[in-house]
Amino acid sequence: MLLIKKILVPLIKRARLKKVNIDARFIKERKLGQGSMSEVWRAKDKLSGRVVALKILDLEKTARLEARFEGLAKPCEGEVAMKLRHPHIVRTLEHGITTNNEQYLVMEYVNGVSLTLPVALQNELMQSHRLTFIVQIGEGLDYFHKQGWIHRDLCPRNILVDRQNSIKLIDFGLVVPNTPPFRAPGNRTGTASYMAPELIKRMPTDQRIDVYSYAVTCYEMYTKQLPHGVDPTLTLDMIVQHINQAPIDIRELVPDIDDQVASTIMTGLAAKPEDRWDSVGAMLHRLRGAQERLEPESEYEYVDDEAVGDDDEYEYEYEDDDDGEWEYEYE
Ligand SMILES: Nc1ncnc2c1ncn2[C@@H]1O[C@H](COP(=O)(O)OP(=O)(O)OP(=O)(O)O)[C@@H](O)[C@H]1O
Ligand SMILES: [Mg+2]
Repeated sequence: MLLIKKILVPLIKRARLKKVNIDARFIKERKLGQGSMSEVWRAKDKLSGRVVALKILDLEKTARLEARFEGLAKPCEGEVAMKLRHPHIVRTLEHGITTNNEQYLVMEYVNGVSLTLPVALQNELMQSHRLTFIVQIGEGLDYFHKQGWIHRDLCPRNILVDRQNSIKLIDFGLVVPNTPPFRAPGNRTGTASYMAPELIKRMPTDQRIDVYSYAVTCYEMYTKQLPHGVDPTLTLDMIVQHINQAPIDIRELVPDIDDQVASTIMTGLAAKPEDRWDSVGAMLHRLRGAQERLEPESEYEYVDDEAVGDDDEYEYEYEDDDDGEWEYEYE
């Protein structure tokens, strides 16, 4: 039974996929991003008339990454992304395979900037929205965890801020199910500077690796630097030398930071997972508490993920079929 469900069904689904001639169907307007594993285009979909973001995964890199999880029936990026419905997660409308055998995803087009930009600029946008952004990232990630996934690549590069100053998590290329085979030690995929120590040391992992990456992201949003003060271009081997040292306390760099916010972020950065928040939900709860106290006038409406249902806005000609795969490595 398990064999059929876990291995045969995904294979059959993929084999049934109709291949799409991307150049015939989409008018590519402008390249939005050249990721390490893909190209992303703003494109006009002739089928729906809609302007979308079209992500085409690199064939060879995706195959190399997939090979790491052979036999585990890891869902591909498109399969994961299609299941996510949250105001702070980019909406994926369709996924499939191109006539060149690449996996592609059709997403809502997010008109905005990568969070790396306001992190680097520490501009008015960042200063006035920092806590709201942090809470929204937490809401998206908390929902994502409750759906049973581990992200493995949360970092400012994979977070967009749209024109309404609302957060959208993107890039589910390294996602794995939160199940024992995928929590076993081994693969060190992700972005080195955001990787939890247990992942770097090839110990068993769980959703708390995302708590760590979330805390690094929050830390950077306040300080513009990484918790160990290390250069983001360092390799994994160089970072291994730093992770046994305690991170620089955020209060040293931002003396006027609220104590509850500071201690919440620092607990998220604990080297041992058992000393960290045991869930994003727990960390988020503390951050929301701080936001309510510090910004009572903001009247930010928290997203209740229990109430996040299907919105049918996009449900029309797109087929809810299969395939995709995934992303880059770091070792
Ligand atoms: N839905 C979208 N709307 C607008 N821009 C997008 C969208 N999705 C992705 N992008 C842009 O394309 C870039 C690459 O996307 P993505 O992170 O999904 O690709 P990737 O190959 O997995 O990247 P990497 O592995 O380098 O993180 C993003 O940083 C962003 O600038
Ligand atoms: Mg990315």
